[in-house]
This record gives sequence, C-alpha cells and structure tokens, in this order.
Amino acid sequence: LATRLKKTNADVVKKLMLLGVMANANQVVDFDTAALVCEEFKVKYEREIVVTIEERLIDDSDDADENLEPRSPVVVVMGHVDHGKTSLLDAIRDAHVTATEAGGITQHIGAYKVNKNGRDITFLDTPGHAAFTAMRARGANITDIAILVVAADDGIMPQTVEAINHAKAAGVSIIVAINKMDKPEANPERVKQALTEHGLVPEEWGGDVICVPVSALKHEGIEELLEMVLLTADMLDLKANPNRAAKGTVVEAKLDKGRGPVATLLVQNGTLHAGDVIIAGTVVGRVRAMTDDKGRKITDAPPSTPVEIIGLSDVPAAGDIFHAVADEKMARELAEQRRQEEKEKQFKSTQKVSLDDLFSQI
Ligand code: GTP
Ligand code: MG
Repeated sequence: LATRLKKTNADVVKKLMLLGVMANANQVVDFDTAALVCEEFKVKYEREIVVTIEERLIDDSDDADENLEPRSPVVVVMGHVDHGKTSLLDAIRDAHVTATEAGGITQHIGAYKVNKNGRDITFLDTPGHAAFTAMRARGANITDIAILVVAADDGIMPQTVEAINHAKAAGVSIIVAINKMDKPEANPERVKQALTEHGLVPEEWGGDVICVPVSALKHEGIEELLEMVLLTADMLDLKANPNRAAKGTVVEAKLDKGRGPVATLLVQNGTLHAGDVIIAGTVVGRVRAMTDDKGRKITDAPPSTPVEIIGLSDVPAAGDIFHAVADEKMARELAEQRRQEEKEKQFKSTQKVSLDDLFSQI
C-alpha cells in the first residue's frame, strides 16, 4: 500500500495508528482499511481497482527456476549514420535466411531469426535507437545484446556515443563490429583507442569488450560476429518459461488496408498461440493469424520468437508491452481504464504547460 501511495511504510503505519489500527510494515490490511488510509492521504482509491483488475488479469509473477528453459538471444544493431547498420543486417540475413529459404523471399516484419551452429539468434530489424527509445519509454526490456557498428574509416561519432549510452543505460551487453574493413583507410586500432576513451576496453587490451572486424559489403567476418553473439549469450544464460501465458513487446505496428491492424510482436516469455486474446497497451484483440519472419503460418510462438499477427482492434504503439490473457471482457475493461488514465495524464500535462506559460508571461 505504501509503495502504491508513494509514501514511506512509516507514514502509512502512522496513519493506521491514527485510525486505531496497530499494524506493522508487513501486515495485510483489508480493503476498507486501505480505503480509509487513501482518504487520509487524499488519494482517490478507485485507482486501486484498476490495479486489481490488471493483477487479476495478468500473471506477472516470477517463474520458478525449474520452469525455466534456455531461450535464444535478442540482438539489436546500433551505430552512427552510414556506418553500415542496414548493410550488416542484410549481410547476416543474406547469409543465413535467404539462402536457405525456397525462393529466397523474406518478408519484412521488423525482426528476424537466423540460425548459426544449430542455434537461433533473433535480430530486431528496427533502427537500434528507435527500439531503445521505445523500450525505455515503456520500461520494457527487449534486447539482450547490442551490436555497435563502427566504421573503421570514420571512427567513433556522436551517434556512436549515443548508442553506447543507450546500451549502457539499458544494461545490455555490447559487441563491437568494426565495419568497412575492406576500405584502404580502415584503421581498427584508432577505433579501439576511441572505444577505450568511452569506457569500452577491447578484450585484446585487457578489457571485456569483444571487437570483431567485419565488412558488411564483402560479407567478411559475419560468421565470427555471430559466434561472438552466441558466446555472449552463453555467458548471459538467457532463460524463459515457455509454458505460461505469453508476454512480450510490440516491435512494429501498422494499419494494413486489407488486413486491418498488423503488429510485429516479440514473444519474450511464455508461448503465444493462435486464438489467444492479447492486450497491448490500450488495444485488445484475438490473434486471428500468426506468421513467422519467413512468412509461414504458425500456431505457437515460444520465447524470443518474432511474429506478425492480425486480429487486434486497433494499432498498438511500438514499445507497448503485450500480455496474453484468459478473459477478453476483463481485458477490454482494463484497456478502457488505461485509455482513461492516458487521458488524465494528457490533461495534467496540458495544465502544467498552461501554468508554465503563465509564469513565463509574468
Ligand atoms: P543509416 O541507416 O542511414 O544510418 O545508415 P546505415 O548505418 O544503415 O548504413 P548503410 O548500411 O546504409 O551503409 C552506408 C553506406 O556504407 C552504404 O553506401 C554502404 O554501401 C556502405 N557500406 C556499408 N558497409 C560497408 C562495408 O563493409 N564496406 C564498404 N566499403 N562500404 C560499406
Ligand atoms: Mg540503415
């Protein structure tokens, strides 16, 4: 109760005492008592009912260790403009997806899976900065590993530094791909020197940052880079519980003329099934059809799987967290309450602006 009220335990205990309830910090109080405390703090407690519905609907409890199974790593590519992010993603995809697919047609769904040494790696195909911004804005944690692309002929640039800061703030592991090694002006030693100045000390210099020289253009160093991704994933010991209701993040979403709202989801825990009801932010819907990154129809998507789904009532926002839920009616109720909360927030922020305007006029 104290956490929800944003008060200290002592504050709540004090109010309880004033109300004649002798309680300690770990005691359970009933709803009516909690309501009285809310009134004491002049906090509207209908809000608590919102949380209760969310809690009843969404099981966010931690998984017991024995239910956890290894999952594949989720990787994002970041770096300065023109340093070769898209070329690198294309090179990885060309080598590992298109060549093995009949016809070689890969659908763009904002994320794809590659297989290396019999193991999967999921790449988010959205611009790295966008993925991180969305993720931080919603408090979601999407990626495990960031590949920082640095052009060997250009070195560390402003957006490289920005990417380093994003990745550090999100607590993800960084692997550096020193790209454009085919260029005569390539100077990897200078890149490593500059990385060190930003707190990323290469392994060969006694630090813990893996640097892999690559040429996205000539498709060189790609296998080594993927091996390093798997090595890093091993150290992270990534796990999830495939036997629970699915939870994950909206990677991309758009309105398709023929198919309606189309969303690319990354399943992060649990397994998403065709026919599941999901809530993503303020949007609810039933997964009518689900396709993988190769455009194949699938019915089950385990952790670390990117899928494209149709069936939502509206277009969710990239970065929204989604949950598969058992009760569609309750999900709609929760969505409505979230919409209401959003409105309130917007109202408050416009009030704040007008107050600021007022002050600036004085
Ligand atoms: P933005 O999305 O605009 O930020 O750029 P990007 O980081 O995705 O870079 P992109 O892959 O578009 O590559 C930029 C330019 O660098 C293109 O002209 C590529 O052909 C070139 N390029 C990328 N990788 C290499 C490489 O390994 N060697 C050489 N010589 N050129 C490369
Ligand atoms: Mg690009």
